[in-house]
Amino acid sequence: KTYPEVNFLNYKDRKKILVTGGAGFVGSHLVDKLMLQGHEITVMDNFFTGRKRNVEHWIGHENFELLNHDVVEPLYIEVDEIYHLASPASPPHYMFNPIKTIKTNTIGTINMLGLAKRVKAKILFASTSEVYGDPEKHPQDEGYWGHVNPIGPRACYDEAKRVAETMCYAYQKQENVDVRVARIFNTYGPRMHMNDGRVVSNFILQALQGIPMTVYGSGEQTRSFQYVTDLVDGLVALMASNYTKPTNIGNPDEHRIIEFATIIKNLLGGSSEIVNKPPVEDDPQKRKPDITTAKKHIHWQPKVPLMVGINKTIEYFRSELRRSKHSERNIWKPEYL
Ligand SMILES: NC(=O)c1ccc[n+]([C@@H]2O[C@H](COP(=O)([O-])OP(=O)(O)OC[C@H]3O[C@@H](n4cnc5c(N)ncnc54)[C@H](O)[C@@H]3O)[C@@H](O)[C@H]2O)c1
Repeated sequence: KTYPEVNFLNYKDRKKILVTGGAGFVGSHLVDKLMLQGHEITVMDNFFTGRKRNVEHWIGHENFELLNHDVVEPLYIEVDEIYHLASPASPPHYMFNPIKTIKTNTIGTINMLGLAKRVKAKILFASTSEVYGDPEKHPQDEGYWGHVNPIGPRACYDEAKRVAETMCYAYQKQENVDVRVARIFNTYGPRMHMNDGRVVSNFILQALQGIPMTVYGSGEQTRSFQYVTDLVDGLVALMASNYTKPTNIGNPDEHRIIEFATIIKNLLGGSSEIVNKPPVEDDPQKRKPDITTAKKHIHWQPKVPLMVGINKTIEYFRSELRRSKHSERNIWKPEYL
């Protein structure tokens, strides 16, 4: 087996990095970047929504380890940094078993903060723009406290992420743990789950299959989507910075849902009709990050234009739909190659 060529780092510069949820969509791209930089990576995943396929190009590499482990159970390993991403991210996945979603983000985060404390590792928690709920402030900056329904269908995710942030800062204050909190806004790209259920993947899959493209509600609600490699760059920059307060990582380029549907329909030029369905309960009407903090403190801003990202994502889903045999391996090369 051959591997993508990784940078050689000497003993002093090479870090041992744990990526929880590293077999998932975002995690696997982060793993690619950190592996190529030459670090030693341990992926811990229970494969609820993640797949070995996403990291198969690293299996067997001497800098790579894959652990089938649930973050709700403690883990004892030696690491320098922890990227804590383990958690289902799309509404159908996190609503599938709400209690498990709560446990993963609360008990799981306590476990990772405990590990960071014991081994004196830096820890980055993957929080979410969902902490702002259905926002009354637009765009959303980190000072906004949010507008979340604590007993609604999304609460298992939103509130669990909110209390997980609270835990991070309690460990920082009480135990001096070096924490980073990334508030991630909607992200898309290759390796998204086929059943992700969010607009970009839904529209692309529907258009590729020539079936109706479903818009929930009027389609006037807005979203801002960032391409996955921009997010990964932001996470790595945040970890490397000295900035410890919550940081929005997202693309402020805002579009109406109906615009996304039209862009994808026009790009694919298929026979799919755009149809409206009843709105989803507690669906936020507006989403747009204020990224002043990220620009100022971690010198990061997104780079990938929407059309470039959408085209790469279409290419990925097209090849996944064509796949008919198990022996057809994951030909998707790491984005950074
Ligand atoms: N993708 C986005 O748009 C987005 C937006 C905001 C926040 N986030 C956050 O980023 C992180 C990664 O999201 P993603 O889009 O890659 O989702 P994903 O579902 O593709 O990845 C999550 C990974 O975590 C694993 N996982 C879930 N529960 C686990 C458990 N109990 N123990 C161990 N592993 C577990 C899954 O198997 C999967 O590999 C999540 O924490 C999510 O909340 C993502």
